Amino acid sequence: MHLADENATLALAQRLAARLKPGMVIYLHGDLGAGKTTLVRGALDALGYKGRVKSPTYTLVEPYHIAGLDLRHFDLYRLQDEEEWDSAGFRDEFDGHNIFFIEWPEHAQGLLPQADVGIVFEILPQGRNVEIRGCTPAGLECLEQL
Ligand SMILES: Nc1ncnc2c1ncn2[C@@H]1O[C@H](COP(=O)(O)OP(=O)(O)O)[C@@H](O)[C@H]1O
Ligand SMILES: [Mg+2]
Repeated sequence: MHLADENATLALAQRLAARLKPGMVIYLHGDLGAGKTTLVRGALDALGYKGRVKSPTYTLVEPYHIAGLDLRHFDLYRLQDEEEWDSAGFRDEFDGHNIFFIEWPEHAQGLLPQADVGIVFEILPQGRNVEIRGCTPAGLECLEQL
């Protein structure tokens, strides 16, 4: 899918937000500045979140409760190792109830549950390309008619 500008990214996020189900895990791949956080911000906006969506660059995770959903926005760019993961209590987060948007999932390999949906952003001279893939039955269902 080609996303010509930020508004196109936000529109995709809005459609995705309407299809989120508890327990869904969404991996967001792509270089710095590709649009991963923009997508999460768009999804939260679409769900009615009124506050500022901070990038969890240093905190690693920001929790949100909105529209009856518990969401966790992870940015694992700065995750050091498994010990940091454990001491932060992240293992307990994956309870099948929370919805996860995870930037830089490759930095926590072996620690994360499988993705239901994987989104890969590619930076182009103009806009972005994204590849969206359903990896589980729940993920495929989410992407139907997206
Ligand atoms: N489809 C798009 N085309 C061009 N620019 C975009 C698009 N989507 C988002 N952007 C811009 O690119 C930047 C992405 O930043 P951010 O979402 O923080 O990236 P990441 O979280 O992947 O590091 C923002 O400045 C945003 O306005
Ligand atoms: Mg980001």
